[in-house]
Amino acid sequence: MLDEHEHSLRGVETSEHNPDLCGPEGTVYSVDPLKVAAKNHPLVAGTKVHLLTFGCQMNKYDSEMVAGLLGERGAAFVENPEDAGLLIMNTCSVRGHAEDRVYNRLHLLKERKRREPGFTIAVMGCMAQKEGEQIAKKFPWVDLIVGTRMLDEFPRLLERVREGTPTPLLAIETKPDVKFGETVARRENKFMAYLTVMRGCNKRCTYCVVPYTRGPEVSRRITDIVAEARRLVADGVLEIMLLGQTIDTYGYDLGGDNTLWKLLRELHAIEGLKRIRFITSHPEECREELFSTMHELRDKVMPFIHMPPQSGSDRMLRRMARGYRRERYLEVVRAARERCPEIEFCGDWIVGFSGETDQDFEASLTLMEEVGFQFSYVFKYSVREGTPAQNLDDDVPEEIKKERHARLTELQERISLQRNQAKIGRIEEVLVDGPSKHDSSRLTGRTRSFQLMHFPGTPELVGQIVRVKVTQATPLSLSGELI
Ligand code: 5AD
Ligand code: SF4
Repeated sequence: MLDEHEHSLRGVETSEHNPDLCGPEGTVYSVDPLKVAAKNHPLVAGTKVHLLTFGCQMNKYDSEMVAGLLGERGAAFVENPEDAGLLIMNTCSVRGHAEDRVYNRLHLLKERKRREPGFTIAVMGCMAQKEGEQIAKKFPWVDLIVGTRMLDEFPRLLERVREGTPTPLLAIETKPDVKFGETVARRENKFMAYLTVMRGCNKRCTYCVVPYTRGPEVSRRITDIVAEARRLVADGVLEIMLLGQTIDTYGYDLGGDNTLWKLLRELHAIEGLKRIRFITSHPEECREELFSTMHELRDKVMPFIHMPPQSGSDRMLRRMARGYRRERYLEVVRAARERCPEIEFCGDWIVGFSGETDQDFEASLTLMEEVGFQFSYVFKYSVREGTPAQNLDDDVPEEIKKERHARLTELQERISLQRNQAKIGRIEEVLVDGPSKHDSSRLTGRTRSFQLMHFPGTPELVGQIVRVKVTQATPLSLSGELI
């Protein structure tokens, strides 16, 4: 599900071994001349942009949206940051490592800015929201700092910088009514698009910075989501990944009968849309209606749930304020499998959270085994400023965090391999993404449950759903033959 390598693709780089909404590589963007039309702005048109994205799929969606807005105004995207007149970093705060990488880059940019005063540097996203003022003080060579709730204003803010407004220009106000993408975003993958259906999070997991960087939950109206989905389908998209931090509570703030399952039904009716996925689920909020709807609409709604347990120990879950116990997690899994037998689970885990004993950690190992996840993301706990857990001792030594990280990852690899091997001989429906990165005579695509599949085939199959018989398995992927 994720891309481990920092890469740059036609002007937009993605990096950071993903997090929440942990995701595949996002990125993009050739310029579509038809869309570079009336809105050209003289201070943006012709700007060569390099956009670097850290973090989760939500960030990738935001990058795609900002790239879409700039593209409409005539900006062009370049592969090499050295060729860019505008460098944008879309940042992530979820763990310390992601922040450090941005700070390192900002230090390195000082010299370039001295040499080329016209070169524009923008920082957007979670770090901008949370650390904007600090960034402005420590890195005065940054021109523009745009928080998570002002992204729709990005082009206008850039114009102000270009008009000579004193910099760094800070835009981190919290607007409750942040707009979502209203243009067709620029995407790397022609057939797959992210679509943010809600922003923010109303939970207060003690380790997590998201409620402070993204603010409270705001859902987007079903009619607007359906309209964006239709635009995407008209643009060639076959698969849509809906994004929300706790997507199960989609629509609660709108009132009425707005729910995730109603949204799925309305999207299901869109002709030409082949596959719908959604992330991330919360074990406390996941409802049985969801699983029965998934099963009923299984021709389009894919049998895959990303539902982070974080820990298998009730004591840790309480300390994390997750709002459920291990047994509740298992109940949700049982209910899901009963109603939707094909379903596969993906999990996130934190090891070495404050106070985690060997016994607590063992409980994570056994939960992982008991559920039988298709895949997991394992993270070492990192204290985040401003979170409730900042007041708890970060008392698990780094060495032990590392060891637990390795053990949980190894266990997941073993489980993934076993589950994938059990698929040998089975026939999977695969949406073909494109040629394999390593061997152009082979194609890659995703199965219904989001498993990566490699198989020999020719380029005319790209964008089609084909049937592939599984012949080999590794922990991270399947290989097979077209039938
Ligand atoms: N330290 C380590 N991992 C974290 N996550 C969130 N906050 C932290 C933190 N402070 C992990 C959780 C979450 C994923 C996006 O990142 O597992 O689901
Ligand atoms: Fe963070 Fe918890 Fe909200 Fe997920 S549910 S974004 S972990 S606060």
